[in-house]
Amino acid sequence: MSQVFITQYLAELDRLRKVSGSGRETIVREAFKDLLKAWGRTQDLTFVAEYPLKTATRSNITVDGALLHSIRTPLGWWEAKDADDDLDAEIAAKFRKGYPKDNIVFSDDVTAALWQGGSEVLRCAMDDTAKLEKLLKLFFGYERPEIASFRQAVEQFKTDLPAVLNALRAMIERQQADNPAFRRAARRFLKHAQEAINPGLGEADVCEMLIQHVLTEEIFAKVFDDSDFHRKNNVAHELYVLEETFFTGGLKRDTLKGLETYYAAIRTTAAQIGSHQEKQTFLKVIYENFYKVYNAKAADRLGVVYTPGEIVRFMIDGADWLCEQHFGKSLIDRGVDILDPATGTGTFVCELLEHFRGQDKKLAHKYKEELHANEVAILPYYVANLNIEATFAAITGRYEEFANLCFVDTLDNVGLHTQAHGTTADLFGSVSDENVARIKRQNARRISVVIGNPPYNANQANENDNNKNREYPAIDARIKQTYIAESTAQKTKLYDMYARFYRWASDRLDANGVLAFVTNRSFLDSRTFDGFRKTVAGEFAEVRVVDLGGDVRANPKLSGTRHNVFGIQTGVAIAFFVKKPQKTKDHRCRIFYTRRPELETADEKLAWLGQSRLARLASEEIRPDAKGNWLDLTHNDFDDLLPVIDKDAKAKAVTKVGRERAVFKLFGNGINTARDDWVTDYDSDDLQRKVEFFLAEYSRHDARSTDLGTLIKWSRNLKTKLGRGMAEEFGAQALRRYAYRPFLPQYGYLSRLLIDELGQWPAFDGPGNRSINFPAGKAFCCLASDLPTDFHFTGDTKTASLYRYENGERLDNISDWARKQFTQHYKAGTGKRLEAPTKAGIFHYVYAVLHDPVYREKYALNLKREFPRIPLHGSTRADFWRWAGWGEQLMKLHIGYETVEPHPLKRIDTPDTKARTHQDEDHSPKPLLRSEPEVGRILIDSETTLTGVPPEAWTYRLGNRSAIDWVLDQHKEKKPKDLTIREKFDTYRLKDHKERVIELLGRVVAVSAETVRIVGEIEGDAR
Ligand SMILES: C[S@@+](CC[C@H](N)C(=O)[O-])C[C@H]1O[C@@H](n2cnc3c(N)ncnc32)[C@H](O)[C@@H]1O
Repeated sequence: MSQVFITQYLAELDRLRKVSGSGRETIVREAFKDLLKAWGRTQDLTFVAEYPLKTATRSNITVDGALLHSIRTPLGWWEAKDADDDLDAEIAAKFRKGYPKDNIVFSDDVTAALWQGGSEVLRCAMDDTAKLEKLLKLFFGYERPEIASFRQAVEQFKTDLPAVLNALRAMIERQQADNPAFRRAARRFLKHAQEAINPGLGEADVCEMLIQHVLTEEIFAKVFDDSDFHRKNNVAHELYVLEETFFTGGLKRDTLKGLETYYAAIRTTAAQIGSHQEKQTFLKVIYENFYKVYNAKAADRLGVVYTPGEIVRFMIDGADWLCEQHFGKSLIDRGVDILDPATGTGTFVCELLEHFRGQDKKLAHKYKEELHANEVAILPYYVANLNIEATFAAITGRYEEFANLCFVDTLDNVGLHTQAHGTTADLFGSVSDENVARIKRQNARRISVVIGNPPYNANQANENDNNKNREYPAIDARIKQTYIAESTAQKTKLYDMYARFYRWASDRLDANGVLAFVTNRSFLDSRTFDGFRKTVAGEFAEVRVVDLGGDVRANPKLSGTRHNVFGIQTGVAIAFFVKKPQKTKDHRCRIFYTRRPELETADEKLAWLGQSRLARLASEEIRPDAKGNWLDLTHNDFDDLLPVIDKDAKAKAVTKVGRERAVFKLFGNGINTARDDWVTDYDSDDLQRKVEFFLAEYSRHDARSTDLGTLIKWSRNLKTKLGRGMAEEFGAQALRRYAYRPFLPQYGYLSRLLIDELGQWPAFDGPGNRSINFPAGKAFCCLASDLPTDFHFTGDTKTASLYRYENGERLDNISDWARKQFTQHYKAGTGKRLEAPTKAGIFHYVYAVLHDPVYREKYALNLKREFPRIPLHGSTRADFWRWAGWGEQLMKLHIGYETVEPHPLKRIDTPDTKARTHQDEDHSPKPLLRSEPEVGRILIDSETTLTGVPPEAWTYRLGNRSAIDWVLDQHKEKKPKDLTIREKFDTYRLKDHKERVIELLGRVVAVSAETVRIVGEIEGDAR
């Protein structure tokens, strides 16, 4: 990689020389700077140009470039010179001025010289690739003792913190029991916190706040030399009072002794950091890292991550421009109240202050009266407080308390302002405390600008995590009335935190105002946000979106760390919404959209934001379609086709038979087990053992149990079932063959207790039934089965069966309405008299159409967000039966894959003598399960290879893999995530299944090749 950078550098240097005809320092240095930047990025280093430094003699110098670690200590320095200068004389001159000698590169366009630890260690010609690489490796390989010890300290912190936390928690518990002064102070604090944050808070929450307070006291005091902070800030003061009732002197020293290495490292590192801005960044890194170690779940739930400066400045500048454009006022002007409702480390407020720099009087007024910020967690609240006050002091030269920072849960802080558009809301009747007074003051203001980066944790993946977002009845009710009421999606996840913040801010904003958030980008194109899009288009006059992409789940080619501006998996967008009183009812909201290239890296995106202004952005104006789509609008006849499934038809299926307008009456989600590892297996005996263990552990608890433990996998549904007293014994009838993933013969334990959501399976469960399964959204595919199908059988699976069962009676699940459409459309035609379309024929017809490549391509965008609809190809019964015939062939193949004649693959066995002799405990060959489509080969393990896979077989794909790869992937030996399963039931070994897998692969190759052949015929059909 390093050589690539150097080659790029030399090419760029050459280009610059040719273009400019010059070797001047200012021109050629750019090429070397890019080299340093690119190399630095691979080591998470940030390059800062024109870096100001104080020398040992306290004079100020500016180094051409500094490479900084994320905690803002420098790795090293770079100084560029002109080719005409005498490099040695220049170096000597710089050192006389006090330039650092620890790790610095001097360069002109001919020579580079590296100094480390006070002496020159290497000098080379700039075009000597090998030597330059050596020089840079030395430069980038340098580690300062402080950095090494900081890294060590952070590692140590992770090990030591749990013990200190336990000690602190135990100590606080003892104080609750034995110390009346503590109890009094805690009660007072709790009352305050309940009023300001959440009435549901209890003693345990106070304990956590106190712990955060105690642990961070030292850090803040040292970084900002503000040892008084904990006494001065109103919230800190309250906690300090609490702390002082027991935690002082020797006790405090002894308890925190375990963390001294960490504090010492922070002290030393902080002392190295001179500038105010770098201190802020240091604190932000501490904020994220500390919180993740201290409480990873809370960090995720609250969205503890700081917002890069480029994003913040871009948003402030954009909001300023929009205010000016629409309301003739700038952010600095009087009467423009600005609120960051989830302030974290206070970046938005600090950057706002920077934005107002130079307008002292107005800035002072803004700071005092019209800048507001909320934060719900104690640690970021402290950081924000310190950052904001320090920034104000750095700009104005005087310290002033920031009295508009509230320690409050923003989403709970809803009151009359929802209707009264931000005028008054007296939420807190009898209040004496400063923080509550601040909240009151904020609530009494009209808020013209809401700006920030609200949290974005969506749903916890696992109930055992116990990390669910709490409920917000008032906001959630508003979401229901608006976003959900306008949505056509079947199930919505709109109680996502960022949707709540959007709802809150839309209501809180003044009748004239600007809302600017950076959030998850899913509101732009996700199906469940259709109601959100329709609502905001009604509530706002203008929307401007900068889509920063980086959605790793939607595009596996992306990586969170490389492509996402927050280093996360969910895509990100910045959005501005302008609210104005609407003059007419049928106003049209104008929506402008800018998209960054899909493969752009996070650094490139940030650099682009750093140089861009909303006011000058090239954007596309979007005209949403009637369904509330903003992106990927389609212009085709999809709406005229026959719905395969439909929410309304399903609702009518039971009541008004015959009125349904979809091919299938009933459909549902695939089976959602919520505990796959526990209820599926290749081996029915192993499955039975797991289930029996699970049931035994479950039966130890009842509705009164408070500690369920994590021995088995709990879920919200299972807890509810326990609460209702539901019990179960193992029953062999629930042990069924199960379509867990494509082409995998497995077992599932399908009981009402152990499966979280059976979907419509009970209604579809009957002899001879078959289902068509396809994903809702994402890459379209479909697969038939005669077994119960899992929710992830084909993506997020929707399943629709040929029959359904009521009270043991078999009923048609293909609607009469559908048959009528088909029989009316397909005429008898000439020649041999063919039967009119039957329901079974329609079932097969649908399967053929859903496999048609022409159909999938033409309606790809529709299929991403809507349930499929089908065209009626041709006009005669012969046309119908031709398609139905294809569907029937495909279905027979897919359902009967286990009995298809295997494709004759060639098997090559070469003994792996190494494995057989010593490497593995059990001397078995190393499992590989890897496909090599280019050479038509499958590697089973280190001994066995299969060759002769026909090329077309790889092209039969389901979602993001070929059918062959599904089989390979699902047979890999994986470490189970569930701890109990890992310890007690991790019995699967490829060697026990090897022959079966080889046979299965032969069959799946045959199925794939034949599917591709039939699909080819379908594709070639004239239409
Ligand atoms: C993504 S961070 C904000 C980052 C911030 N802009 C910065 O650069 O530091 C979100 C913050 O919102 C806070 N937060 C989460 N839920 C909140 C709520 N309901 N009310 C107030 N603050 C909340 C979290 O504690 C977290 O610090």
